[in-house]
Amino acid sequence: MIFSIMPLYIKITDIMKIENITLAYGNKNILKDANIHIDPGEFIFLIGGSGSGKTSFIKMLIWDLRPKSGKFFATEDRDVYAYTEKELLAYRRNIGVIFQDYKLLRSKTVRENVSFAMEVSGYKDSYIAEKIPEILSRVGLLHKKESFVETLSGWEAQRISIARALIHDPDIIIGDEPTGNLDPRNAEEIIDLLLELNAQGKTIIIATHDDRIVNRLRKRVVTFKDARIVSDKENGVYEL
Ligand SMILES: Nc1ncnc2c1ncn2[C@@H]1O[C@H](COP(=O)(O)OP(=O)(O)OP(=O)(O)O)[C@@H](O)[C@H]1O
Ligand SMILES: [Mg+2]
Repeated sequence: MIFSIMPLYIKITDIMKIENITLAYGNKNILKDANIHIDPGEFIFLIGGSGSGKTSFIKMLIWDLRPKSGKFFATEDRDVYAYTEKELLAYRRNIGVIFQDYKLLRSKTVRENVSFAMEVSGYKDSYIAEKIPEILSRVGLLHKKESFVETLSGWEAQRISIARALIHDPDIIIGDEPTGNLDPRNAEEIIDLLLELNAQGKTIIIATHDDRIVNRLRKRVVTFKDARIVSDKENGVYEL
């Protein structure tokens, strides 16, 4: 589907209120009766053992996994899963997602990867040409603009996926193990970039297994275990 570029989006995501949400695949419950409220500008880590439901929870946030029951509000009054197509588009544009496997086109250049993502979002060529240098410099990749993805290191590739998450200048950035494939130094760089975005007012939600980063930052930590959210702490540490 191609959308014409709309200069004025409906501002839909100020908060995220998850109330008694149950997530399931078939009749296997992944998360039961979860409650969590996320305010604008928060920085949150989602932790938990492998298979504890972090990715499923993120899928729910980006409209990829409809809850079996419960309520999920991104504005005061309407459930996200009851949105019209137009509301959903506005909602999704306000969320940038960073995937661990990058989801990049490996035989294309850095610039082509970002412009392709913008094209499929319906942006005009002139706008794309104008915006790309700004987005790439934001993630420190402008000098690699014409490099092919297959020649990049893991952390450079991860920066492209962050660049793509920033296309719509979203208020919310969600990362599913964004530092998972990186060595500690490069992982720190990605985290610094996320902290910078958070300082600009963006909400950051990160699923991670990286205890060092969680313990250093002392942000809000939400822990998933046995299909439950078992703890939700400000200034939290990595504790399973
Ligand atoms: N598409 C699917 N169909 C059926 N079951 C699934 C599907 N995706 C995930 N699961 C199951 O749901 C549970 C939660 O998986 P999920 O990927 O959300 O965990 P996770 O916390 O992200 O794990 P990890 O830390 O390994 O990424 C697991 O038992 C998994 O096997
Ligand atoms: Mg996962």
